[in-house]
Amino acid sequence: MSPLHVTRTLPEDATDAALRADVLSGLTVTPKWLPPKWFYDARGSELFERITELPEYYPTRAEREILATRSGEIAAASGARTLVELGSGSSEKTRYLIEALGSLTAYVPVDVSESALVQAGQALVEERPDLDVHALIADFTAPLSLPATPGPRLVAFLGGTIGNLLPDERAGFLASVRSLLAPGDGLLLGTDLVKDERVLVRAYDDAAGVTAAFNKNVLAVVDRELGADFDLDAFDHVALWNAEREWIEMRLRSRTAQTVKVPALNLAVDFAAGEELRTEVSAKFRREGVTAELAVAGLELTHWWTDEQGRFAVSLSVAR
Ligand code: SAH
Ligand code: TRP
Repeated sequence: MSPLHVTRTLPEDATDAALRADVLSGLTVTPKWLPPKWFYDARGSELFERITELPEYYPTRAEREILATRSGEIAAASGARTLVELGSGSSEKTRYLIEALGSLTAYVPVDVSESALVQAGQALVEERPDLDVHALIADFTAPLSLPATPGPRLVAFLGGTIGNLLPDERAGFLASVRSLLAPGDGLLLGTDLVKDERVLVRAYDDAAGVTAAFNKNVLAVVDRELGADFDLDAFDHVALWNAEREWIEMRLRSRTAQTVKVPALNLAVDFAAGEELRTEVSAKFRREGVTAELAVAGLELTHWWTDEQGRFAVSLSVAR
């Protein structure tokens, strides 16, 4: 069996320095905010996997339906020998692609969550000893250097994770994805679609409270890593639909007036009663918008597949 290769492009202490910088800049401005990549420590990755199984959280099931029914078409159109997956998490839906891509020799999952990467990577090398699995612990919003594996290359970015980037971040991100591709290489992109507000809000505010726990986990990360004293019970999870920007906004609302100490930064942060800390957006898309954003980055949309109910789309675009 070929071993699992794991490369860390983030130095151990870069995480710490970046977290400090983000917490300092985010908690000393109005409105307060924290960037989403800090959700995904081992517990965050585990909570996200539970979200994907919730009855209210349709995106995973809708995207799985598309990949299960369309992976043959995707494979035929791409012919990739290397599959790179950004924000791969459990790589669970990706198995449909890996199975369908007949000439695949290398799989390169990229994620900030080491626990998710190693778990998924180990399972894959056992199932597919013929495949070169090269896991990369890296931040996909920073420049990536990929292992030298044979082309053509297909980059997959699934789960609607692109919606967690703000519009200007998205443009920079797509341009950097384009720079990883040679002409003819592809990008397979999963995007959640604009739909009924109630369906959207429920997907991010489930009855069992798993999404609330996931959202609050970012506070637990700051407590653990920077010695802060956030009391998770002193905040409420808020999910609301911003109809103008067409995104879901996740926030944490302080139940009372309180001061939170962050010793590692020598910082005391005052929250007014009802004050909200912004944690994440999840943008929803339309076909025209996706096509246009890809085109700006030099990617031409060639295929657009949705689930039966039209809730989610997977698109394939080609680098020109
Ligand atoms: N693709 C999987 C997981 C989606 S959740 C699915 O569709 O189910 C988003 C994933 O992206 C998580 O595994 C998280 O750890 C990872 N992630 C979030 N921000 C990241 C970043 N900046 N760089 C690399 N990975 C990131
Ligand atoms: N990419 C996922 C999405 O936007 C991430 C996600 C799901 C998420 N539920 C969440 C992020 C709750 C923050 C809070 O659907």
